[in-house]
Amino acid sequence: MISSIVVIGSFNQDLTWSCTEFPAAGETVVGRFKTGPGGKGSNQAVAAARAGAATAFVGALGDDNFGHDAEKFLRAEGIAVHLARKKLPTGNAAILVNRRGENQIIIALGANAALAPRDVPAALLGDARVVVCQHETNLALNLHVFRTARRAGVTTVLNPAPMRADFDPRILDLTDVLVPNETEFVALVNRRGFTEKSLHALPHHDLHRLCRSFDVPTIIVTLGARGCFVSQSRGHLFIPAHTGLKVVDTTGAGDAFVGGFAAGLVRFDGNIASAARYGNAAAGLSVTKFGTAPSMPAQRAIARLLRSA
Ligand code: ATP
Ligand code: RIB
Repeated sequence: MISSIVVIGSFNQDLTWSCTEFPAAGETVVGRFKTGPGGKGSNQAVAAARAGAATAFVGALGDDNFGHDAEKFLRAEGIAVHLARKKLPTGNAAILVNRRGENQIIIALGANAALAPRDVPAALLGDARVVVCQHETNLALNLHVFRTARRAGVTTVLNPAPMRADFDPRILDLTDVLVPNETEFVALVNRRGFTEKSLHALPHHDLHRLCRSFDVPTIIVTLGARGCFVSQSRGHLFIPAHTGLKVVDTTGAGDAFVGGFAAGLVRFDGNIASAARYGNAAAGLSVTKFGTAPSMPAQRAIARLLRSA
């Protein structure tokens, strides 16, 4: 089967502790523990597949229990997997979630950082409609992937998460759709005094003008519980987040957005606004469930939420 969407990125085993409040430095608190599949790349592939798109995932795992379970999980989701085994541990993430559903995360990239151009089957990219990358593998690989995708006329979607000191802006010349969250957008703007607070205070036409200062056809800034802002050369659009949902855990909301958006691009034949609404609904549903990949909603639930809004 041909995969319309190819996600190239990380798998992490998520080790998650929920607590009432985050511990302060030097403090110990009692919480509850759960572990499950995560990692931005894998989460986005799961989100896209559940949202109804034929999806492939390219990633790197260690030869360990986390890695073996990851492969079983991804296959069970109906994702076409291309997994390189590295002599490094499978990536992992320590996640704290407080009672407001907020999170703090530390990741160890492990095998993800060793994902290399030779691990990406060339034919896979040529047949795809959309390719999605993030910042949890290695950034040189992302450049290689987007160059190949551009040559093949495949739409490139970059989620610059997490923002890294070794970010190479040349990738922006190869990006069709850039999807940063607020923190990542502030880092990209890289202007003294420009903070998340100033981003929130910007009137939409000024935010649009700022987005247009990057040479990227479409920028979608995800704004957490506010929703998202879509900027294209032909104009801009604010899509409010869905309201009335019980927020359990926002971890992976950005991944639900990106995966849902990519599936929307295929479903709505490249229509950015419809795809962003689809991603926004997928992300809204994801915050109502605990965990990252396991919280990604099914196509039917997304359609139901969009009908009811
Ligand atoms: P994470 O790093 O936790 O995965 P993120 O910071 O990358 O998330 P956000 O901008 O926080 O991403 O959220 C992504 C999308 O999730 C938002 O654009 C919105 O559609 C949805 N979302 C987030 N929080 C809420 C909420 N409280 N209620 C409804 N929708 C939400
Ligand atoms: O975006 C959420 C993801 O970030 C988690 O699954 C964790 O693995 C980190 O990569």
